Amino acid sequence: MKKDKKKSVVKANIGFNSITSQDNFKHELKVHPHTVPIYASSTFIYESPEIAQQIFSRKIEGFAYSRFSHPNAILVEEKIEQLETFGLNMEAKALVFSSGMTALSNLFQSLLKPGDCILAQGNIYGTSVDYLSHFAQVYNMEVVYVDFAKLNELENILKQKKNIKLLYAETPSNPTISCYDLSALGKLASKYSVKFAVDSTFASPYLQQPFKYGADFIIHSATKYLNGHGTALGGFLVGRDIAFMRNNVWKVRKITGGICSPFDAWLLNNGMKTLSLRMDKHSSNSLTVAKYLQTHPAVKMVNYLGLKDHPDHALAKKQMSNFGGVLSFDLKKGYKAGEKLMKKIKFCRLTASLGTIDTLLQHPASMSHSFVAKAQREKFGITDGLVRMSVGIEDTQDIIRDLEQALR
Ligand SMILES: Cc1ncc(COP(=O)(O)O)c(C=O)c1O
Repeated sequence: MKKDKKKSVVKANIGFNSITSQDNFKHELKVHPHTVPIYASSTFIYESPEIAQQIFSRKIEGFAYSRFSHPNAILVEEKIEQLETFGLNMEAKALVFSSGMTALSNLFQSLLKPGDCILAQGNIYGTSVDYLSHFAQVYNMEVVYVDFAKLNELENILKQKKNIKLLYAETPSNPTISCYDLSALGKLASKYSVKFAVDSTFASPYLQQPFKYGADFIIHSATKYLNGHGTALGGFLVGRDIAFMRNNVWKVRKITGGICSPFDAWLLNNGMKTLSLRMDKHSSNSLTVAKYLQTHPAVKMVNYLGLKDHPDHALAKKQMSNFGGVLSFDLKKGYKAGEKLMKKIKFCRLTASLGTIDTLLQHPASMSHSFVAKAQREKFGITDGLVRMSVGIEDTQDIIRDLEQALR
């Protein structure tokens, strides 16, 4: 590394505090870092005021301020664009957010206006329901929840209600692990000229590509499988309408500050590097654990899309390349048995998230869905004895041994 002598002399003439305050890294790097560094900088220095003006007005590509965009964001956005369109004859534009919920809220704020109606699947992630109710109330919109497996019912509503702007699906769904027909939903959305958004968090782009089936938008909680290690929060919105993403959604993200931080985006990029390896292992481990649970006398029923007797197995096989890492099971002895299992597990972790390399368990009735009325929970299959399990990539004999002792 050669140091520029002239610059060092100039620096020697400035004050003590000026030396400590400024970054004056003038070394000419003869090599590039092997991995993209964390660009922990809120702003960027311009070569000239003219270039600054062009960047701010978006006449040329460049970085202005990290709330607008930053190199670590661009890196993961370009990666997910390629993954979600892999093998498909199309292009897409992605934006990365501070969480899955920010991705979802930025889509709604960009797309919808007062008086619009959102047609949403009944059993989506709890906080998505919370957000929809809040958003609809504040902005004078309507949300109608329908069972997306009942396609006739869905079509009747689409026929009758002219203010429907968005069809909002989540597949596989959380925590009942149901699968919904993306192709049929995509056709209905196109027939009635409504936008179609799919939360594909549980599948990741390695197992499912909703664009193949006509989705306009894909949402990911990147906190889950895309990060994969439970080290950061993040979210993606990927859209097929590039101009809409570049102008409308980008503007909402810019003015609301919803972008992922450089550090979280950097962690996300690290996780994405091993996505396929992890998803293969999550899927094979989950099938082994699901088959074990099916034989256990304390277990009434196991929801895992990879099981041949799961009602959605054939559909999942059609639209997913494997069945993923989340399963749920219903304990015969209900609520108390669920609580007892949570107390007794040792190797598996008791926590609410999913998609990490280690195995995580939670009991929705006493944890994530404890604030939801029992009747409403049960309507969507979230029974008192239901346990959700995010199967990790550990050795399955250790996961099974822990379940064995905890279910005793
Ligand atoms: C299916 C699904 N979508 C969205 C979210 C929200 O993501 P985040 O927690 O990153 O905001 C979650 C979180 O668990 C989820 O499971």
